[in-house]
Amino acid sequence: METTLIILKPDAVQRGLIGAITARFEQKGLQVVGMKLTKIADALAAEHYKDHASKPFYAGLVRFMTSEPVVVLALRGVGAIAVCRNLMGATFGSKAAAGTIRGDFGISNSFNLVHGSDSPEAATRELALFFGSGEVLSYTRAADAWVYDTSGGKVE
Ligand code: RTP
Ligand code: MG
Repeated sequence: METTLIILKPDAVQRGLIGAITARFEQKGLQVVGMKLTKIADALAAEHYKDHASKPFYAGLVRFMTSEPVVVLALRGVGAIAVCRNLMGATFGSKAAAGTIRGDFGISNSFNLVHGSDSPEAATRELALFFGSGEVLSYTRAADAWVYDTSGGKVE
């Protein structure tokens, strides 16, 4: 099982898409293990996006991410990091494939609705930035018996 950090960006919140986008992840079978509405402080945005600090879009990205509230989600599942990135689609809304979140809900390249961790190392780092101790929960979901096949002793 992997846990990944997803951020529903300010455009998703302002456009009333919290439910629709969260539903995509839930319908796939991912388990919500952390969730909160928050306004990202400048220092947190800078830390989160520090790998992009030298990029031309960095200042606009930090301004955007700190402009209005976001919803941060911790999502858990087998291969959750790659599964979520596939559900999100390509970075730019204008290019993202139909059927993906970015492909179906947006057309902008910078207002692209959702962030997802891109590696296990990034997920560990980003989850610690946005969730305090005890805020990411472990619990059994009734539906899990039908989300995964465990009849052979493994989670398939
Ligand atoms: P994210 O980190 O938000 O999940 O997105 P990503 O991996 O698909 O894309 P990344 O290359 O990490 O870029 C981070 C965010 O910066 C904005 N961006 N704007 N105008 C531009 O050329 C440009 N390039 C990137 C997007 O909001 C992107 O999600
Ligand atoms: Mg990225």
